[in-house]
Amino acid sequence: MRTSREEVGVGVVMKAVQIAKTFVRRARPLLFPKMLYSADSPADENALSLYEGEWTSKLPGFSGGGQADLFGEDERPRWMAQAAGGISGKHVLELGPLEGGHSFQLEQLGASVTAIEGNSLAFQRCLIVKNLYDLRTKFLHGDFVEYLRTTDERFDIVFASGVLYHMRAPVKVILDLCRLADQVFVWSQYFDEKIVQADPKLRRSFASGRTQIESIGEVQICGHERRYNSGWLTYFQPGFCGGPDQSTYWLTLDGVRQCFDAAGFEITDQKIGISAHGPHVTLMAKRRNGTAASSSFPS
Ligand SMILES: C[S@@+](CC[C@H](N)C(=O)[O-])C[C@H]1O[C@@H](n2cnc3c(N)ncnc32)[C@H](O)[C@@H]1O
Repeated sequence: MRTSREEVGVGVVMKAVQIAKTFVRRARPLLFPKMLYSADSPADENALSLYEGEWTSKLPGFSGGGQADLFGEDERPRWMAQAAGGISGKHVLELGPLEGGHSFQLEQLGASVTAIEGNSLAFQRCLIVKNLYDLRTKFLHGDFVEYLRTTDERFDIVFASGVLYHMRAPVKVILDLCRLADQVFVWSQYFDEKIVQADPKLRRSFASGRTQIESIGEVQICGHERRYNSGWLTYFQPGFCGGPDQSTYWLTLDGVRQCFDAAGFEITDQKIGISAHGPHVTLMAKRRNGTAASSSFPS
């Protein structure tokens, strides 16, 4: 039987090989400009192969995708639709669609979707997916934090899956979400001191012990610094799906609840789970009757 040290060694070598392959694929057209052109007969597979080995999502009907079943089995869009009382005809703002798997599902559930993706490589994969499946979703490329801060648009629902724990100021982001819609769906990892301390890998990620206070009026909410791999290597790291920041702040579950409460929202459905990355919450929050959408919150 292999020792765990050997396993770590094999893992590192496999990662290095993947990174090298991605590097070569990205560099090829620079070295051989003719490779900017496809010489194959036109087909969806040609577009898919532009990101060969880099897809995270299984792509229904095509081989060559990744492992994550975001287009099918992943239940978050269905869970959200049920908690919202149906989303047919609703305008949903989706944050961080990655490769459009949830956008695909939200459309199938009858919603019209606007999705904002900040990672340029992921955004291009979203466009390939839009083309593969004839999606109507409007994919926008940019930083959704900036969008949330400045837009006057209104949506029926915000769908924020896998993004809150990539934020440097998560409280501000939640307050902004609540300004844009009366229903907000969140799936997010959260900070739990006991779970972090019991897990060596999580402990390392939170090793700085730094905290940050964000205030909503009198209410102070604490974020715990989580460090992520970042930098130029992520450009060649297949399947990288983090945010732009190396240092982000994770809220506790209580902190998340306090934010929604302060924004005049009630959490109507909630589910807790745990994975190798730590505990996570799935929740639907709705504006309390009589609470008007505010154009700004106290801070
Ligand atoms: C962990 S993935 C989540 C993907 C998908 N929503 C899910 O739940 O499986 C985070 C996604 O959000 C995007 N993202 C993170 N921060 C962003 C920002 N500030 N603006 C736009 N996109 C961002 C990342 O590029 C990535 O595609």
